[in-house]
Amino acid sequence: MCGIMGYNGSKNAIPIVIKGLKSLEYRGYDSAGIAYFFNEKIKIIKEKGRISELEKLLNNDNSNLCIGHTRWATHGKPSKINAHPHMVGRVTLVHNGIIENYKELKDNLEKEGYSFKSETDTEIACSLIDSIYKKNNDILETLEQIQTILKGSYAFLIIFQQDKNIYALRKGSPLVLTQNELGTFVASDIPAILEYSKKFYFLEEGEVAKLSKESITFYSKKNIINKKYNTFNYDLTTAKKNGYSHFMLKEIYEQPKVVKEFLDYYFENFKLIPDISKYKKIQIVACGSAYHSGLVGSYFIEKYGHIEVQSYVASEYRYKEKFIDKDTLVILVSQSGETADTIASLRLAKEYQATTLGIVNVIGSTIARECDEVIYINAGCEIAVATTKAYTLQVLTFSLIAYKLGVIKGNIDNNLKDKIKTDYLKLPQYIDDLLKLDYNNLTNKIYSKKNVFFIGRQLDYYSCLEGSLKLKEISYIHSESYPAGELKHGTISLIEEKTPVVSIVTDEKICEKSISNIKEVKSRGAYVLLVKKSNILVDDSAYDDKIEIPNTFDLVSSILTIIPLQMLAFNVSFKLGLDIDKPRNLAKSVTVE
Ligand code: AGP
Repeated sequence: MCGIMGYNGSKNAIPIVIKGLKSLEYRGYDSAGIAYFFNEKIKIIKEKGRISELEKLLNNDNSNLCIGHTRWATHGKPSKINAHPHMVGRVTLVHNGIIENYKELKDNLEKEGYSFKSETDTEIACSLIDSIYKKNNDILETLEQIQTILKGSYAFLIIFQQDKNIYALRKGSPLVLTQNELGTFVASDIPAILEYSKKFYFLEEGEVAKLSKESITFYSKKNIINKKYNTFNYDLTTAKKNGYSHFMLKEIYEQPKVVKEFLDYYFENFKLIPDISKYKKIQIVACGSAYHSGLVGSYFIEKYGHIEVQSYVASEYRYKEKFIDKDTLVILVSQSGETADTIASLRLAKEYQATTLGIVNVIGSTIARECDEVIYINAGCEIAVATTKAYTLQVLTFSLIAYKLGVIKGNIDNNLKDKIKTDYLKLPQYIDDLLKLDYNNLTNKIYSKKNVFFIGRQLDYYSCLEGSLKLKEISYIHSESYPAGELKHGTISLIEEKTPVVSIVTDEKICEKSISNIKEVKSRGAYVLLVKKSNILVDDSAYDDKIEIPNTFDLVSSILTIIPLQMLAFNVSFKLGLDIDKPRNLAKSVTVE
């Protein structure tokens, strides 16, 4: 998704904004640009490609006010003319989001005599603002009016000729703001402003922020309002690579530490893990890896809580027939807390009077603020587009929820409770041990393949879904995950000599079934990488390579199985020389539908 940064203060704003945009590169983009006051005029410099291409066009201009943008193309191809900022008349702006009624607005503006240079909805929005501003010459009134006209999502930073302030407003797409003795700062995400202050404000929908050189003024319906600030509990290092080649590798290796901190914190404050035993129906809604963690969560809650759970992809949930009432708990899982489809699902669930619980990483994000209850996974900043530590902690959160539920409902007696807890406390070390394995041999057998299959049953199938997504999103190798019992119903036709099949087997009750599925693909020439629990016996002829995880309860083993698959995906992508932290076409937080 697009990255936005603005600064107004006593220092040269241009390098501050460029630095902020670089800290947002992980969000994914294809062009970049800045706008700043220079000799009383607004100058725009923008370019297709990376920020480094934009930097080649910069000169030694010095300005105290600058806004910047990295664009992830939605309307109009990646190009210089479509890059932001856009200027129309006295208005210059950058935008993150999608204006849904841009066609209708464009027709009306053309009748007013406006013409358009770019293919973007953003230029149309800029023209609309200019058109209204021309009529009333009142900035706050103009910004109030556009909020009633624009449909869709937006985070705007707007500057007006002759007015040395930055104006910020948003709907859907987030904006965070902070200030210190150097001036005022605004950005689309925390890493861009973290070094300037630990105190930050989230701009709410309907609010307008005016950033002068000295301070931020917040308005609601043109009236000045006071806002409470939030405080980061992240340290700066989590937004830096700290010697690792990639953020993804750093975040994979952070897992033992963040898992230990998570367990220590929530076992110390076990009351913070919600008791969901009273709900008759539970729905889990999320996207991508968060959805996969929800599938694992649904298994845990059904097994240990004996409550039926449905998991949904948010973009599907929004449009399906709803079976929600006040006895329904809807759990929304989101690392960023800003995923558009998950936010929309949350708002829908609330319309049906469901209770909403957020499992979120980013403090104060939209989903965290709008859910009735929130559990923070406290993974720290996760910068790599491919999630690892956040996914692991999402699963661990569901694991603790189910563990508490099982104890409350008497399905986990004291003896079992202590044994499971022992596994939890060993989890950081178990993860560390798996990170120490040598993945080179496996990497060499996978990296040149065109297709890779992942198969498993129940929890193992859900881990396969996540392992498959990790591999394809950063190595661009096509991979699919299948319920092991489903292969025979079609897909096995694709298995030929040396086709890689990753199989996860951790459930003693159904391992024989999975092993027979492995033998089916092996007998057709597949290369089988087996990830199994150490106590499950599989004859050597059934696989080519294996990785064993400790014999633990499923509440723990389902976290361990994903670790080797994260490492495999990273090493394959590294060997292919790809942009691991910023894979093509992807964004860290999908804030548009
Ligand atoms: C996972 O590696 C991807 N980055 C993606 O599937 C991600 O999990 C999904 O977009 C959901 O994001 P969220 O957790 O911030 O809502």
